[in-house]
Amino acid sequence: MQSVKFHSRMEAVQSPIVQVIGDLIRQVPGTISLGQGVVHYGPPPAALEVARQALADPDTHTYQDGAGSPALITAIERKLRRDNGIEVAAGSGVTVTAGGNMAFVHAILAITEPGDDVILPVPFYFNHEMAIQMAGCTANRVPTDDRYQLDLDAIRQAVTPRTRAIVTVSPNNPTGAVYPEQALREVNRLCQERGLYHISDEVYEYFTYGAARHVSPGSFDGAQPHTISLNSLSKAYGFAGWRIGYMVYPTALADAIAKVQDTVLVCPPVIAQVAAVAAMNVGPAYCRRQLPLLADIRDIVMSELRSLEPLCTVPPADGAFYCFLRVNLDRDPMRMAERLIREHRVAVVPGTAFGVTDGCYFRVAYGALQKETVAEGIGRLVNGLRALG
Ligand SMILES: Cc1ncc(COP(=O)(O)O)c(C=O)c1O
Repeated sequence: MQSVKFHSRMEAVQSPIVQVIGDLIRQVPGTISLGQGVVHYGPPPAALEVARQALADPDTHTYQDGAGSPALITAIERKLRRDNGIEVAAGSGVTVTAGGNMAFVHAILAITEPGDDVILPVPFYFNHEMAIQMAGCTANRVPTDDRYQLDLDAIRQAVTPRTRAIVTVSPNNPTGAVYPEQALREVNRLCQERGLYHISDEVYEYFTYGAARHVSPGSFDGAQPHTISLNSLSKAYGFAGWRIGYMVYPTALADAIAKVQDTVLVCPPVIAQVAAVAAMNVGPAYCRRQLPLLADIRDIVMSELRSLEPLCTVPPADGAFYCFLRVNLDRDPMRMAERLIREHRVAVVPGTAFGVTDGCYFRVAYGALQKETVAEGIGRLVNGLRALG
């Protein structure tokens, strides 16, 4: 019998790094994970209660509107107006997706054809590069500066006739950088001038510390026709397992997005949407209540890691729940991440997964830590880096 053998587009796509690190963690019981980007809290109790009640409703168990339930879309529109200054008026559409990752895939499939390129500032969120490659496009990697802020000149110079979009993620995964309004305005204006889309991933919008403020490019004057805003309940409402995200886009893309949605999801999970409406009614205060604790944990993480200078460099990280650590050694970061797990029982994600290939970098995620585990987790990382350094 002949074995099935062929090439697939997936060969060029990196393996899901969180699962790779997760497999290693399982081999070393007791490992503290600073790997996955999750929060330590779950959904608001009110959301769980309505989900319980929805089990008895026959509508929960059937296909519903493809773009999302009218109740959830109304709640999202209200939130966009209140928190983001985005008016979903004539000219814009909203689609609910199974998480923010799916919204990004929808956007890329809707705006590109194979052979196009999409500008990604490096370090990037790995699933963004993976989605671009799966669509038969090229991720056009553009460096950021030494504080992981956007380099506008580099972005400008990277635009080619095949460029379809510029992606920004603020607050950023993996760096924790928050981009100032002016930088986002310049990216948005560049997109307008060059006929590109600005894809703005805002899943960490509520997670800012100190003086840093989140701003939505979709709220800028004249931005609406070329701006796609992505969001998710995964982080803000501890909703990762419920898989609810959403996107706001110019209506010129509505048909294309409806085609992708119908093919891959048909409609968003109905029970998760019911829970999402209740969570959004509780509002961002639910998430903001967690911020003082996260800010304390971040302070501990940053000061412990900075104690490693000059072995390590840690630029400011004023948002999300990550920092992106440079280890000033000529080492293979994947190999070092493996040794940190096996020899020091602490997990971080190597920078290569985020497109950084010119040095030894790691993403440190602290959203899942409690005050009790932070000292132990960071202590292991600091000791491990010293020992391996
Ligand atoms: C920048 C960014 N966008 C999107 C997502 C997707 O989250 P979800 O698909 O759970 O909404 C994540 C998750 O880590 C993220 O970091």
